[in-house]
Amino acid sequence: MTIDTIRNISVIGAGNMGHQIALVAALAGYDTSLTDVDSDALARAEAHAGTYLSERVAKGRLSEADGAAARGRLRFVATLADCVAEADFVVEAAVEKLDVKRRLFADLDHFAPRHAILATNSSAIVSSAVASSTKRPDRVVNMHFFNPSLVMKLVEVVQGPHVSDDTAQTTIALARALGKVPVHLHKEVDGFLLNRILDAVFREAGWLLEMGVASIEDIDLACVHGAGHPMGPFRLLDLIGLDLQHLMAMERFEKTGDAAELPMPQLAARVAAGHLGQKTGQGWYDYRGANRGGKAA
Ligand code: 3HC
Repeated sequence: MTIDTIRNISVIGAGNMGHQIALVAALAGYDTSLTDVDSDALARAEAHAGTYLSERVAKGRLSEADGAAARGRLRFVATLADCVAEADFVVEAAVEKLDVKRRLFADLDHFAPRHAILATNSSAIVSSAVASSTKRPDRVVNMHFFNPSLVMKLVEVVQGPHVSDDTAQTTIALARALGKVPVHLHKEVDGFLLNRILDAVFREAGWLLEMGVASIEDIDLACVHGAGHPMGPFRLLDLIGLDLQHLMAMERFEKTGDAAELPMPQLAARVAAGHLGQKTGQGWYDYRGANRGGKAA
């Protein structure tokens, strides 16, 4: 299959990443359907799409006609079967649990047209771990977007040993057609490219905090004003979710048995308290009430 034959994109999971990926696809001219097992999450995504597109028009970033056309290309669909019935390309952005994803990929294989490529946006799970639950492993690939996906240009395309060259090249071409900058990984590796690099920064920042060397705010200020990072590591963790960082660290620990991989104590304590970042109103910073992220929690 080639990029020219892709008309319909389906996105599975209307959370933080999925609903923005669906908007990216609709804005790039693709007929796009989005589904989620949680009907409230789907309703929130639908409400956000309307608000986001109107705000872009009001801000002068999008013409009224283009905003309306993008909205017209987006469908919010209750069931997985309906969502992928016409799909040429599927992006799965559901919960980061292997057993859930394996069941989901078996269902996608059943309901999506035979020619469709099934991509996972997972940050932590390589596509070979889900490809074996389908009858089309050569068309199951990692296509990893970054948060916020409406803004960040990078897309990592990971070509595990089961992925055909056609699938990798079509996925790379699709990322470009979505206005993104794809990078091609020729091997599966935990954390892919950028999360491995960011993880080294998160880890170092975490231990500097644990050792009492500097405050959350000052470590963030150092990265922003000394290294030109758009936001410091603690603020970035609040954006991507402390639970995701915790999960990735635990998975590495379970694989390696290396205690150095364990989440640092202050991260684990916040996750245990349900302080997961912006999405819960509190993480490293406090986003509630008048604070709006101005102060560390
Ligand atoms: N959703 C959609 N659009 C957003 C947004 C969001 N959550 N946050 C900001 N934007 C848009 C704004 O509307 C604005 O658009 P415009 O210039 O066209 O009007 C533009 O982004 C800039 O926004 P702001 O001026 O409000 O704020 P900043 O200039 O500080 O930019 C940022 C915000 C883009 C989030 C920037 O701080 C940044 O690049 N941060 C780093 C993000 C990053 O590193 N992401 C990767 C995380 S790792 C990951 O995703 C891996 C995964 O596996 C977890």
